[in-house]
Parts: sequence; C-alpha cells; structure tokens
Amino acid sequence: MDKEKIRGLLKEAEAKIGIAKGLNEVEKIKKEYLGRKDGQISLILRGLKDMKPEQKKEVGPMANSAKIEIEKMIKDKEEWFLLQGQEVAGFDITLPGSKTTTGHMHPIEIVRQELEVIFNSMGFDVIEGDNLVSDYYNFESLNIPPDHPARDMQDTFFIKGHKELVMRTHTSAMQVKIMEEREPPLRVVVPGRCFRNEATDASHEHTFHQLEGFIVDKNISISNLIYTQKMILKEIFKKDVKVRLRPGYFPFVEPGFELDCSCLICDGKGCPVCKGSGWVELIPCGMIHPKVLESAGYPKGKYTGFAFGLGLTRLAMMKFGIDDIRLFMDGDLRFLKQF
Ligand code: DAH
Repeated sequence: MDKEKIRGLLKEAEAKIGIAKGLNEVEKIKKEYLGRKDGQISLILRGLKDMKPEQKKEVGPMANSAKIEIEKMIKDKEEWFLLQGQEVAGFDITLPGSKTTTGHMHPIEIVRQELEVIFNSMGFDVIEGDNLVSDYYNFESLNIPPDHPARDMQDTFFIKGHKELVMRTHTSAMQVKIMEEREPPLRVVVPGRCFRNEATDASHEHTFHQLEGFIVDKNISISNLIYTQKMILKEIFKKDVKVRLRPGYFPFVEPGFELDCSCLICDGKGCPVCKGSGWVELIPCGMIHPKVLESAGYPKGKYTGFAFGLGLTRLAMMKFGIDDIRLFMDGDLRFLKQF
C-alpha cells in the first residue's frame, strides 16, 4: 500500500513541478511533499519507526529515494527559473542594462588608422610585416653589408642563439621581402613597430612606430616622389603644405633626401618648434637604390621606384602635442584615457 502511495506521490510531484509557473509555486510544492511538519513524503518517513521490520525494509529505501528525487527535481526547476531571470527577488529582466566603461584606441593606433585610410584611397596596399626579421632583410638586402658603418646608426637588438635574426630596426626591413613576393607595379605601405637598443629619454624609446611606403613601377621619377609626398601631407594635415628636399644619406636610396615641410605652427615664418627656420624635418625618402631592386630579383634596369619612412610615433606626438615619447609605452591610464 505505502509502496504504491509513494509511487503515486512521486508522479504527482513530478507533474506539479513540471507545470509550476514560478519560484513561489515550486516552494509550495516543496512544502507539500517535503515540508518537515506535514509534507507527504516526510510523514511516511516519520512513520517508519512504527512499522514492522519487513515493511520498514521495503518502504524506507523507497521513501528515501523519492525524497531525493523530488529534491533534485525541485532544485533543477529552481535553477531553471533563476536562469530565466524571471523570479529572482530584486531582479527584473526588463530593466535596462547598467553602464559599463568601454576601451578606446591608443593614440598611435588612431594615427595609424587615419594614415591607412589615406594610403588606401591612394591605391596603396597595407601590409603589416614581421617584427622579428632576418639580418638579411633588415640590413643586407638594403645595401647595408655586415661591417658597414651605417649599422651604427641603428642600435640593434640581436636574438641570443640566433645570430641571423634581429628585431626590425625600421619598417624598411619589409621592402625586399614584399618585393620578392610581388611583381611591379607596386604600391605598398608597412605600418608597425620598430625596435632599437636606445638609452631612453623624452625623444628616444626602444619601441616606436614607423610607416614605410614604397612604389615600384616603370619610369618612376623624383617628381612622382615629391608630388606623392605633398598629397599625403595635404591629407594628413588637411591643408596645403610646402615641401623642400635636402640631401640625406640612407644606403638603400640613391639619391636620398630629407623631406622638410613648412612649419605648421608658424606657417613657415619661424618659431621655436622649427627653431626659427620655418621648416620641420619630416620624411626621409629617396629613389630606391638599384641594388635593392636587384636584391628583390627584378630584371636590371627595368623598374625604378621611391621609398619613404614616416615616423608614426613622431606624427602622433605632433598631432596630439605629446612632448615625451615614453608616455606611449608606459601603459599609464591617466595618459591613455585622454584620447
Ligand atoms: N628606415 C630609415 C630609418 O629608420 C628611414 C628611411 C629613410 C626610410 C629613407 C626610407 C627611406 O624608405 O627612403 O632610419
């Protein structure tokens, strides 16, 4: 008799739990079957002590497992309601969410993305490139042989146990690697990190950003170089700027130049920023050296091109009026949150 009763109670409880519409109802069901004072299963368990031993042996385990099963069903249902978020005290799923703070871009990234849009619109492909490169791509392919004094200008991080690898000291390191993979006409920019073993101060940092650009095609001339630089600067600064070329030495360009632009602060009249000259040194550039085109495997004399190296970090400093380069890498939120 009790056995059937227990079976019946279990079924009944299961059905009621199944259709319960909220935590309140589940609570009531729990009381009805498991309530300490007069829950139906509890009453049977309490009655065990008055039963004959054989009956006790049969009914005891059954009542116990019914209790465990009902407890489990109730717990599952409660969790289900909690997950639905419908019945938790003080929680209303229809309330609008609370505000969280969102991150934002690093100043270098802001300038980098701006430049990428400009260069894309001028038909340049953007290629990220590698930070760890071979000595060959960083130096030799760029006409800087092992004992060349030009290596002294770029204090290099070499890799222990891998003499042939260096952290790239300039984004120019990607020139030949990219040329090897592509046939001209080529229009490419490579923005990214560069590394030098510098003693750091307000204008020197071991990690900084450059943007290398180069064009290779038939009949590219210095006039193309000057025009392109002017257009780029016009886009960056949103106004016409005058440029001038001075000779500059870089082993991978011939002729090599320092491209200055008229000082944007004083409009070329002379101020402390341009040290009274009216000009600011901005972009090293030049016509790609025939040896570099040779390293790339291009047929001798077929193509010419120009290359330039924009100091992305420097540009960001100018744009945002930042006077200490170390701030970029410090990770100080008081600085970063200003952008
Ligand atoms: N890679 C040079 C540096 O970091 C900058 C540079 C100079 C890049 C002349 C060029 C260039 O493409 O033509 O010092």
